[in-house]
Amino acid sequence: MKKTLYLGIFALAGLLALASPSSLQDLNWQQYKIYDVPFVPTPPEVVDEMLRLADLKAGDILYDLGCGEGRIVIAAAKRHGVKAAGIDIDPVRIGESNDNAAAAGLGGKVRFIQQDLFEADFKDATVVTLYLLTSVNLRLRPKLLADLKPGTRLVSHSFDMGEWKPDKTSLVATSCDDQRDVHFWIVPANVTGRWEWDLAAGPRKRHYTLQASQQFQAVTASGTGGDRPLAINDIGLVGDEIKFRLEVEADGKMASFLYEGKVMGDTITGTVRPADDAKAAAVDWKAARDPKTIESIVK
Ligand SMILES: C[S@@+](CC[C@H](N)C(=O)[O-])C[C@H]1O[C@@H](n2cnc3c(N)ncnc32)[C@H](O)[C@@H]1O
Repeated sequence: MKKTLYLGIFALAGLLALASPSSLQDLNWQQYKIYDVPFVPTPPEVVDEMLRLADLKAGDILYDLGCGEGRIVIAAAKRHGVKAAGIDIDPVRIGESNDNAAAAGLGGKVRFIQQDLFEADFKDATVVTLYLLTSVNLRLRPKLLADLKPGTRLVSHSFDMGEWKPDKTSLVATSCDDQRDVHFWIVPANVTGRWEWDLAAGPRKRHYTLQASQQFQAVTASGTGGDRPLAINDIGLVGDEIKFRLEVEADGKMASFLYEGKVMGDTITGTVRPADDAKAAAVDWKAARDPKTIESIVK
């Protein structure tokens, strides 16, 4: 609420400068509310933290949705040499972005697109930055989860994503004499449903099943090994990389195995090794999912 308020106050201050009504009461806010979010630039210290959390590397493709006058896009391209693009619905902002990019020596090296971000195609992004409002983030969330590849990083100045809890949050002191949250998420793969695989257990093969539920990046699972229930612990999902510990009874003793793999659609490929012995040889692991068992990760 407080964040919405200060974004609103900055916007109103800007509008007052333009419209100069005699008092706040004279300002008819609705007449200015043509876009989903007013233009307020991210302070430089917050841009720095957003790019630090994004951990930009060669090959990354960054989009700033609602790019304003382009400062995040320009900083990403100039400092990290990555491909970067900004999308803004306001043609004035796109004009300013292009001017600022040219002044920064980036003419032709960054792209600015005048479009409604809800209609834009940014599927090739590996990093998406946002300074919108929580209400807008929540409307955008289904598109982000549907369109972005697992592993894509999202960074939002101030505003969160509701029940999709951030993987990290930083607090930044700004030159505006306040503090801002910067939230970071990694788009998770959907690993819900029933997975199955076989693994050697001594001279025989044992059949395993795992039933996974998921709320955003948080996964819980139960399973069976042969005809026995299995405990599945310490499940971690980061983008398309999953790991968990599976407790199995073998020869009357309990043993713990560490599974690590990469999710690609309805297949996970990876390795299994004894959890308490990092030097033990790993064996290959491949699990397949029944696609009919997939559920939504938004509960
Ligand atoms: C708070 S400013 C953020 C500017 C920039 N990202 C930054 O952090 O400095 C939000 C921007 O979103 C733009 N915007 C609002 N609604 C939009 C929409 N539906 N599609 C694209 N841009 C939009 C506004 O024009 C404004 O420039």
